[in-house]
Amino acid sequence: MDISNKTRSIIDKDEKLLSRSIRIPFFPLVVKSGRGAVLEDLEGRKYIDFLSFGAISNVGHNHPAVVEAIKEQAESLIHCNPAYAFHEKLTELTEELTVITPGNFEKRVAYGVSGGDANDGAIKAARAYTGRQKIIAFLRSYHGNTYGAMGISAVSLPMRYHFGPGVPEIYHVPYPDCYRCPLGHQNAERCGLACYQYFLGMFETLFSPDEVAAVIMEPIQGDSGIIIPPQEYMQYLYDFCKKHGILFVSEEVQTGMGRTGKWFGIEHFNLEPDIIVIGKALASGMPLSALVARKEIFEAWTSPGHVFCTSGNPICCAASLATIGIIRREGLLKKTEEMGRYIRERFNRLAEEYEQISQVRGQGFMIGVDLVKDRSSRERARDLAAKIVWRCYEQGLYLTFFSGSVLRICPPLVITQEELDRGISILEGAIADAISGKVPDNVLDMVKGW
Ligand SMILES: Cc1ncc(COP(=O)(O)O)c(C=O)c1O
Repeated sequence: MDISNKTRSIIDKDEKLLSRSIRIPFFPLVVKSGRGAVLEDLEGRKYIDFLSFGAISNVGHNHPAVVEAIKEQAESLIHCNPAYAFHEKLTELTEELTVITPGNFEKRVAYGVSGGDANDGAIKAARAYTGRQKIIAFLRSYHGNTYGAMGISAVSLPMRYHFGPGVPEIYHVPYPDCYRCPLGHQNAERCGLACYQYFLGMFETLFSPDEVAAVIMEPIQGDSGIIIPPQEYMQYLYDFCKKHGILFVSEEVQTGMGRTGKWFGIEHFNLEPDIIVIGKALASGMPLSALVARKEIFEAWTSPGHVFCTSGNPICCAASLATIGIIRREGLLKKTEEMGRYIRERFNRLAEEYEQISQVRGQGFMIGVDLVKDRSSRERARDLAAKIVWRCYEQGLYLTFFSGSVLRICPPLVITQEELDRGISILEGAIADAISGKVPDNVLDMVKGW
């Protein structure tokens, strides 16, 4: 694909000056602007967005109501450090968050600027409240790149290698992935919930439940390729936590804010977490994270336990209030649930045609299309995934993959039916082209991905 000198010079300079630690390379795409579910690059080419920059632009790019809220707030007050003074937008947002989060009990809220710091906060608050140290997290989870969040993450080696020892007393257990069982079972119906038995096994040999402060879990595991745990597992785990005074933390940085067709992913399991971790789409990409917890938990967390000078920034709060308003007014939860079902049906039909599409997983607009070399081995088809996303990029669809070979279908919730169908058609064509050898091998040098 032709690239202008201007685009080339930006990318060259960037590659020369920027730390490689911040980027996951896919395409030479310099984004100029965005509106709704469409991005435009410097060359004036348009792309239907199936990424939402990683479940962030849930209400679409530059939604007029978010732009207006940001402008209006910037006119009156750009910043107010919540450690030292109150401001109206923060209070308004705090009230909203207690309403949209599950749990019919009194709540308290804390703020930060990223999903990572919010996860650190969950660890700190859980330890402060319970007086216990140990935290249980899940293999293949991604929680962010601060030390605490990195400590509970286990998505890939490069995010931890050489950075240790980090935060102590974190223990990882297998996430219940019934397609690629981490314990080697082939049949989820007959495994006897082996991953839950593994979880229980830790308490026979390693430590007692009364040493554990919290279990931190994504209700749908995102970056490992959209893994949905069985309801039974979730209920057992939750009941175990309740019985032993262990806090159940629902990590909703990716699943939250309507992404799965409900405000929060944990609602699909009818469970009420003790702490909810929110980030990403909370303020449509403006840096804001939040923790919502049972009142008594945060009352045990004393000042300055979670103070950040720029957290709860008025512009971010205004953007967040606008985002919540849009999700309500435009009925995006219902729409996402219905259209998500439609997307899964389309890809399931495609799976009947192509042996390489082995499974379609997801809820709402958080969908993974798992590509394999063959269905019996379930070996990941990484090169195929890279070629498909490249062809999509050439044809005007912004699509990525994760976990080696899972296509990430993650459009803004405001996408129109027409845009969605156009995007899926491009993707269908790209799958056909990549499988029939029409996409050259040299694109593999450019598409690195996860
Ligand atoms: C589930 C989950 N938690 C936490 C994070 C980290 O968020 P941030 O990059 O804002 O720290 C991410 C980011 O991708 C995520 O997917």
